[in-house]
Amino acid sequence: MLHPRPANTRAVSIVGTGSYMPERVMTNHELADMVDTTDEWIVSRTGMHERRIAADGEFTSDMAAEAARRAMESAGVTADDIGLLLVSTSTPDMSFPSTACLVQDMIGAENAVCFDLSAACSGFLYGLEVGQQFVGSGSVETALIIGAEKMSCITDWSDRSTCVLFGDGAGAAVLQSRGAKHGILTSVLGSDGSLGDLLMVPGGGSREPTSADTVKNKRHYIKMMGREVFKHAVTNMSEAVTATLDRCGLTIDEIDCIIPHQANARILQAIAQRVGASMDKMFINVDKYGNTSAASVIVALDEAVRAGRVKNHDLVLLVVFGAGFTWGATLLEWFEG
Ligand code: UT7
Repeated sequence: MLHPRPANTRAVSIVGTGSYMPERVMTNHELADMVDTTDEWIVSRTGMHERRIAADGEFTSDMAAEAARRAMESAGVTADDIGLLLVSTSTPDMSFPSTACLVQDMIGAENAVCFDLSAACSGFLYGLEVGQQFVGSGSVETALIIGAEKMSCITDWSDRSTCVLFGDGAGAAVLQSRGAKHGILTSVLGSDGSLGDLLMVPGGGSREPTSADTVKNKRHYIKMMGREVFKHAVTNMSEAVTATLDRCGLTIDEIDCIIPHQANARILQAIAQRVGASMDKMFINVDKYGNTSAASVIVALDEAVRAGRVKNHDLVLLVVFGAGFTWGATLLEWFEG
């Protein structure tokens, strides 16, 4: 676990957000034509009504670059200002070069150091913490942190237990220090590699290099023990919320908005119940986008900000869980301008 923020680092704020969702909408009814499922099952078990699917020629880098442009515009910075460009993703365009380097070239961020981060659905909060450290220490003045996924390319469209859950999209945040005591207040991150086999894409890496057999056996697709993952998601996200509140001496009633990873509406209801939060404090868009993994929490934050759900000086709690297992929570004091 990470320790509280050292007193000698600069305060770091999210000074702009942006997101991009592909145009193509896939409804539950379309899925019901593809596998043995129903709109009623998907809505009642997940809260999802539809998700977005990237076009054939649209890649993770394209979505990331568009979200980045929108975040830079909202922050009032140019690509030249970016000192760190990080992309959290489980669906990079290719093994290497990194998707971050591809995005650098697409947006012209030539002064940036660029790399990808792998923490599955928790990737954006892990990236936010890395960006916070770079900017907080003074290593760079401006960081661009992106969560982007083309989950449709690792989805087994014949497996009803997973194909109804995921969607594509991207979100981005620009970080800078604005000198005052606001912005990112604290982060609690955790990992447990002993449970990695409950949620994985086994093929295509050094353990099972791509071969005719790995393709035939569908080893390049998501494999998930849904019920087990569900339980751990509820426990770890609830504990991350509580640990963050304890660290800052706050109660749940003092939090203005909780922005959770959007994996399943039932997971969010269970967390709200455990931590004693009312559901209207939870920002939810899983109905529209499904689970977009590393993009999920930053897309939700961007939508919450643009919809006026997050206002100046609000205390905002981001909370995530994903493969690894990985999890975390980050507390922000939202600051406009
Ligand atoms: O992003 C981070 C990690 N991901 C998550 O946090 C996801 C966590 N897991 C979940 O959200 C839920 O476990 C699922 C939505 C994946 C599944 O919901 P569940 O209520 O846990 O269902 P289940 O896996 O226990 O399956 C219940 C039944 C099974 O049938 P039997 O064995 O009771 O006859 C499944 O075969 O539902 C069946 N089922 C389906 N039926 C219709 C599974 N998928 C479907 C489907 N349509 N798409």
